[in-house]
Amino acid sequence: MKRLDDFRLRLGRHELVPIVIGGMGVDISSSDLALEAARLGGVGHISDAMVNTLTDRRYKTKYTKAKQAQFQYNVASEDKSEVKFNLEHLAEATKLHVETTMARKQGNGLIFINCMEKLTMNGPKETLSVRMNAALDAGIDGITLAAGLHLGSFALIAEHPRFREAKLGIIVSSLRALQLFLKKNSRLNRLPDYVVIEGPLAGGHLGFGMDWAEYDLEKIVTEIHQYLLTEKLDIPLIAAGGIFTGSDAVRFLELGASGVQVATRFTVTRECGLPDDIKQEYFKASEADIEVNEISPTGYPMRMIKASPGIGDGIRPNCEAYGYLLDANGKCAYITSYNREVAAHPGERRVSVADKTCLCTHMRNFDIWTCGQLTWRLKDTTHRNPDGSYQLLSAEHVFKDYQFSTDNQVSLPEPELAVSA
Ligand SMILES: Cc1cc2nc3c(=O)[nH]c(=O)nc-3n(C[C@H](O)[C@H](O)[C@H](O)COP(=O)(O)O)c2cc1C
Repeated sequence: MKRLDDFRLRLGRHELVPIVIGGMGVDISSSDLALEAARLGGVGHISDAMVNTLTDRRYKTKYTKAKQAQFQYNVASEDKSEVKFNLEHLAEATKLHVETTMARKQGNGLIFINCMEKLTMNGPKETLSVRMNAALDAGIDGITLAAGLHLGSFALIAEHPRFREAKLGIIVSSLRALQLFLKKNSRLNRLPDYVVIEGPLAGGHLGFGMDWAEYDLEKIVTEIHQYLLTEKLDIPLIAAGGIFTGSDAVRFLELGASGVQVATRFTVTRECGLPDDIKQEYFKASEADIEVNEISPTGYPMRMIKASPGIGDGIRPNCEAYGYLLDANGKCAYITSYNREVAAHPGERRVSVADKTCLCTHMRNFDIWTCGQLTWRLKDTTHRNPDGSYQLLSAEHVFKDYQFSTDNQVSLPEPELAVSA
């Protein structure tokens, strides 16, 4: 019986353990988590979602404060079109995050950054260009383009000296999306170095509608694999979404994938950026506690734990400080919903907004608990402590479990000995 370790993911001259830990914003796929994947010979991701806010928290920069101060005059206004990012600050923050991470890298693996197109930042093209170019300047090994079709994204870095050397990948959920991307980029003569195929069971935003349950990752991987063979395109495929054991992973490699991207099992590791009390919420969740809803202002369905405090909350939009989801015209679907509720409930100090959420504020504060569909199985991957809480895992333990397990087994960690007084 094969193990995942019997396969290798080849990206150019790199020969990797075929395990990619997926990008998880905002700072859930922390540097520490990505560094472990690289040390163990796989691929780790950091994410540039809300990077200014992230560096303020991690490295004590003051970008958010500066933006808030600059646009303080606009806080009560419904019109957020003037609330722009300072592109120099954005470049600095991205470089700081990437350089600090890359300086600590050990081992033969790689570290990529997850760039979501839907973080339109009231200036989609110029902000994405700054984010990608700054990450390349700072020495990132590769960029994974996520949450969007990214039809023009490669062109934004085509002049960068590392355009052909850094690894560039895209995330798609259908053959059609991949075909569109390839068609649009043909004149750049630069194929993606890898394609992540994300199925309907993944965490974060989904590349499907609310009919997500009708799709099947195995079918999509098979279809895309066949297409690439027919077109004689040699692009490694990385399957993602609901791959919970090493045996699940092997199944995809036998179908033609070259690697797997996994995330959910790492949300309960010590290295993951979620606060420890929220990791316990992930452990505790049952299948009925997980839903896919449409409250993200991006317009994509998103999977989360129903008890997330951000669901239904009616906080005032905080775009002067954040504003990462403002579209090209300074609009966000949450602002519209919030204003509607405020108008319907005059004089109320705090309204409730059911149909959309202020994703910037709530992801920043870890109040939207986005998760993969198989989060409910996490409790079976560890021990229960005497106080009822679950023992956190190490990223190394989970990584090696994927790498070496067979027969759909999940190996439990060494029990932590209770400290006696
Ligand atoms: C907590 C969480 C946050 C995520 N955030 C992002 C994100 O910011 N960008 C992205 O492209 N994918 C995101 N994802 C998707 C993962 O990178 C990954 O592709 C997917 O979840 C793999 O499926 P699995 O979680 O079942 O292993 C997120 C997943 C989780 C669990």
